[in-house]
Amino acid sequence: MSSKILVLAGDGIGPEIMAEATKVLSFVDNKFGLDLHVDEALVGGAAIDAEGSALPERTFELAKAADAILLGAVGGPKWDNLPPAERPEKGGLLKIRAELDLFGNLRPAILYPQLADASSLKPEVVSGLDILIVRELTGGIYFGGPRGIRTLDSGEREGFNTYVYSESEIVRIGRQAFEAARKRGGRLCSVDKANVLEVTMLWREVMEELSKDYPDVELSHMYVDNAAMQLVRAPKQFDVIVTGNMFGDILSDAAAMLTGSIGMLPSASLDINGRGMYEPCHGSAPDIAGQGKANPLATILSVAMMLRYSLAQIEAADFIERAVEKVLDKGYRTGDIFSEGCKLVSTSEMGDAVLAALTAQ
Ligand code: NAD
Ligand code: IPM
Ligand code: MN
Repeated sequence: MSSKILVLAGDGIGPEIMAEATKVLSFVDNKFGLDLHVDEALVGGAAIDAEGSALPERTFELAKAADAILLGAVGGPKWDNLPPAERPEKGGLLKIRAELDLFGNLRPAILYPQLADASSLKPEVVSGLDILIVRELTGGIYFGGPRGIRTLDSGEREGFNTYVYSESEIVRIGRQAFEAARKRGGRLCSVDKANVLEVTMLWREVMEELSKDYPDVELSHMYVDNAAMQLVRAPKQFDVIVTGNMFGDILSDAAAMLTGSIGMLPSASLDINGRGMYEPCHGSAPDIAGQGKANPLATILSVAMMLRYSLAQIEAADFIERAVEKVLDKGYRTGDIFSEGCKLVSTSEMGDAVLAALTAQ
């Protein structure tokens, strides 16, 4: 059965990493006879420049019709002074996430043994690391209202956002996290700030209630400040972490460094039916854009997640993940994961190395 894939390269390093990911996608399409129909469209700053909107109508229509979306990254200094709702992040990325109801963001942080030296933590702290962060993606303080910047009677300005979660929003992300934990090590740590914030007091209560349906999963709770500390102190104590939108954003970047680089972290953002968007956890990296320095592996691994979660092509997903391991075995490294004695390669050389490994398998 044919599947529709929408490719949104975006801004900064987006087009560079996506060029490598689509090479891999088209290889597995041919090899496994996946019959993919791949469209490309503009999003973010590139779309603002070409069409005046971060999410043009054509892009939005294609996104709604797609079986899965592959996204590079959006944003950059060029568009930072636009009104918030028009910026690449809010007007493009967050709008797709919200409109398609992609509330469940899975961010696996796995340390490939070959990269133990690339992590900023000691090898014994991170070796064998395999954790999953389940981040709520369409609610919380990112989307709550009222929000804005207002001028008070005193003449002083005040910025404000609202941190809100409804019970049903907590239930659906909670279920997704319990299900994920059930398929892994059976341990779920819910991260909140229930010592201060009522919204997360409710979060904790709902997680406790849900746990009755998952007797096989061991639920624990941790405050987010402690969780940040524990992630760098002893990250292997975690199996699955479930948390709200902003805490998940921050903790997943911290977890990225445990794996050597944010250039290694893929993600899946799923709706209730498993339809999804797949993207690296990192951004558009304006500091290295256009220089062939970006690590394309997070995006290539996001292709594997797409095949696994939205297209049920497990064999093709495994095939890509194995090829990435082989490339790391051979010592190929972009600058972000480079260590003594390895081969420093560019973005496209890394993509070519993955392709060569796929061909050799
Ligand atoms: P960033 O993730 O783009 O970059 C942080 C650091 O990590 C930089 O030093 C960068 O060079 C490095 N880095 C990131 N990806 C890399 C890769 N694949 N290979 C090697 N090094 C990599 O975060 P930032 O600098 O805070 O944000 C830059 C822009 O990206 C902003 O406009 C931000 O809003 C946007 N952003 C977009 C997304 C997304 O589209 N999903 C995610 C995060 C940030
Ligand atoms: C991410 C990014 C986005 C987020 C930004 C670009 C809106 O940091 O995907 O992690 O905060 O969700
Ligand atoms: Mn982020």
